[in-house]
Amino acid sequence: MPKVGEKNIDVLFSAQEIAKRNLELAQDIVAKRFDNLLVISILKGSFIFAADLIRAMHDAGAEPDVEFITVSSYGKGTESKEVRLLRDIDSDVHGRDVLLIDDILESGKTLKFTRELMLERGARSVSIAVLLDKSVKRKTDIEADFKGFECPDYFVVGYGMDVGHSFRQLPYVGVVRD
Ligand code: IMP
Ligand code: MG
Repeated sequence: MPKVGEKNIDVLFSAQEIAKRNLELAQDIVAKRFDNLLVISILKGSFIFAADLIRAMHDAGAEPDVEFITVSSYGKGTESKEVRLLRDIDSDVHGRDVLLIDDILESGKTLKFTRELMLERGARSVSIAVLLDKSVKRKTDIEADFKGFECPDYFVVGYGMDVGHSFRQLPYVGVVRD
């Protein structure tokens, strides 16, 4: 079990497993033959997954434009969560195929908010790629078109995901133990 500072981390998905899965996801995405594709990475949590996935997509033959959006969900419980746009993209999405990339799909509120925003702006299609799907926590009708792994109902960190801004740097996904 790796130790980070004083904490032991239980590895759920190793760097190798994630890299292998990213190649498969990239192939699946490229097979959809999106037109004039704009990839939007939802910050902050998706930054490492997006960086790896778009390079895997390049290797699979895709030529997407890449943008970033910062949305944040406030409220303690999943029920009371409210999503806000903190920093917008610069590109016009009108008539384009859009692929939203996020780290983890939980209640679905973050991705529902972002997808509806892009559809309102006239995107031709909006697809969703997530590394992890915590489907037992879903509170909306949102599903991912491309998902890396089903995630057990633990609070996970690493590979971009944090607890209090810590642990984003880990190259794997894990659970913090004492
Ligand atoms: P949703 O809006 O409830 O689907 O929540 C999705 C967002 O919550 C993700 O983009 C993450 O930033 C965050 N999140 C949900 N579960 C976890 C977790 O286990 N670890 C770290 N962040 C999480
Ligand atoms: Mg997030």
